[in-house]
Amino acid sequence: MIIAIDGPAASGKGTLARLIAEHLGYACLDTGLLYRAVARDVLARGQSLEDEEFAAQAARMIDTATLDDPELRSPGAGDAASVVAKFPAVRQALLALQRAFADQSPGAVLDGRDIGTVVCPDADIKIFVTADLAVRAQRRFEELRRRGDPVTLEAVTEILRLRDERDQSRADAPMRAASDADLLDTTEMDIEAAFDAAVGLIKRRIARLG
Ligand code: CDP
Repeated sequence: MIIAIDGPAASGKGTLARLIAEHLGYACLDTGLLYRAVARDVLARGQSLEDEEFAAQAARMIDTATLDDPELRSPGAGDAASVVAKFPAVRQALLALQRAFADQSPGAVLDGRDIGTVVCPDADIKIFVTADLAVRAQRRFEELRRRGDPVTLEAVTEILRLRDERDQSRADAPMRAASDADLLDTTEMDIEAAFDAAVGLIKRRIARLG
């Protein structure tokens, strides 16, 4: 069983993916961490994020044991990730790893931008999680403030807006809902409500799968 959860930054997809995986006893992969780690490794070698060949090499050499690095969760890492994520050679290099993860028993939940469209187009269940930009910015702002980051709401809003634009406009695997995905708008939901709604969608899909 493969569950694909896609959506923009701070839509709640990461937390939802984790809760769903725990609920079902499935493995969970936050695929954004892969792109974050590629960007980290490129920068650590003193190279430019705009060098596709170098970024692809970092992607081919990625060490999944380093994905729990707390630095990967910083806003700068997310932004850097979206720069290397536009390169087809980087996306290609990360594809086999993601598909191998998805193909495990009893099931896997993967969250990202292109899971339902490119990585696992045959996923059993696809959910595209959205929320208004202002609400996503408020969530990310509160999360960063809790971690002691002195950001402003205006700056967070602008960073998310630019990242959405970059993720939606790239030619290779742009962020979009698969035609057969269920949409889940969490603008007016807290995480418990979003989880209940997602479980409802999953149950309905499973019933239809027979
Ligand atoms: O947690 P947040 O949504 O802020 O970011 P993330 O999911 O860790 O993704 C960071 C960046 O990686 C995104 O802005 C995308 O550019 C890229 N990404 C991607 O292109 N494809 C994926 N499947 C996952 C992430």
